[in-house]
Amino acid sequence: MSEMHSPSDATSSNPSTENRRGFLFAAGSTLMAIGGVLVAAPIIGAAVAPGILPEKDQWISLGAVTNWVPDTTVLIKFSNPGGAPDDGITRENACYVRCMEAGKFQVFAVNCAHLGCPVEWFSQSRLFMCPCHGGVYYEDGSRASGPPPRGLFEFAWRIQDGMLEIFSGRLPGLQEGT
Ligand code: FES
Repeated sequence: MSEMHSPSDATSSNPSTENRRGFLFAAGSTLMAIGGVLVAAPIIGAAVAPGILPEKDQWISLGAVTNWVPDTTVLIKFSNPGGAPDDGITRENACYVRCMEAGKFQVFAVNCAHLGCPVEWFSQSRLFMCPCHGGVYYEDGSRASGPPPRGLFEFAWRIQDGMLEIFSGRLPGLQEGT
């Protein structure tokens, strides 16, 4: 008399097949879990980061509005508010503040509108000059000569509680549409 075995009986009763099946199930579950974490991490990060990271677009004070002498332009240094403490020197930024008269200002980015080299202010000639390719700007930031296609970029500014503030965190540039 012969004994009948179904295929499922044959596989389920084999210990090595059971081990392989268990291993594949565990490996598949692990890979799916890793994939889930990789997909979820950026989504969770984007949702949580604004509450943890410092606000990068914000008004920062450059000092009392009475500090500026009318009809002068001065270089002011400040720290990027969106930086981290270990950013070091790369966190430092600068702008030129032009005081036309009491309470009336222009605040220029130091970067040339051509390829971004820092421009320098020459009070005798009342011009900004770029050392890289000879770009020149008038004291109101408008283009005078050379390769720059436009005038200097300007920071938005305001007077708040007697302090001159600029909207900082990102450099003024072509993305501003001006
Ligand atoms: S970067 Fe200033 S003229 Fe080219």
